[in-house]
Amino acid sequence: MKIAVRYYSRGGATEKVAKAIAREAGERAETTDRELDKKVDLLFIGSGIYKGHIDSHVKDFVESLDASKVGKVVFFSTAMLGGGKSDEEIGKLLSEKGIPMDTRTFHCHGKFLFFHRGHPDKKDLLDAEIFARKIIRK
Ligand SMILES: Cc1cc2nc3c(=O)[nH]c(=O)nc-3n(C[C@H](O)[C@H](O)[C@H](O)COP(=O)(O)O)c2cc1C
Repeated sequence: MKIAVRYYSRGGATEKVAKAIAREAGERAETTDRELDKKVDLLFIGSGIYKGHIDSHVKDFVESLDASKVGKVVFFSTAMLGGGKSDEEIGKLLSEKGIPMDTRTFHCHGKFLFFHRGHPDKKDLLDAEIFARKIIRK
């Protein structure tokens, strides 16, 4: 199975989760600034949540995707509160492109100001790995 991992992270929290998922997938985590240049069965996309939304870099990346090159997207995020409506937000963009999105998503806390210091922590990253393993093995 061909897998790619893309993320956008302003502060580093989502990057940590992306790297944990990529480790499990045996791939490198790359930022959404890197175009998807190969055909993949599974594309993990991650974003921090800012003012209730996924980052515009992630939106641009989704916009740049060629539907014939992506089997399915799996979304993950880090946030102070939780995923919020980010699943729906990216799901809508993907559906407009005709790209399927797995209903299973991964969300964990990322530190913000004085909140959730130390997150994502070891357990969060282990949970992310377990999540990726389940998705990859179906
Ligand atoms: C400008 C800004 C706006 C944010 N807005 C939200 C928000 O609306 N909801 C939320 O749950 N977290 C919010 N956060 C917290 C981030 O989602 C959290 O810190 C996340 O882990 C950031 O990911 P990153 O370190 O990969 O950039 C915000 C953080 C920043 C810097």
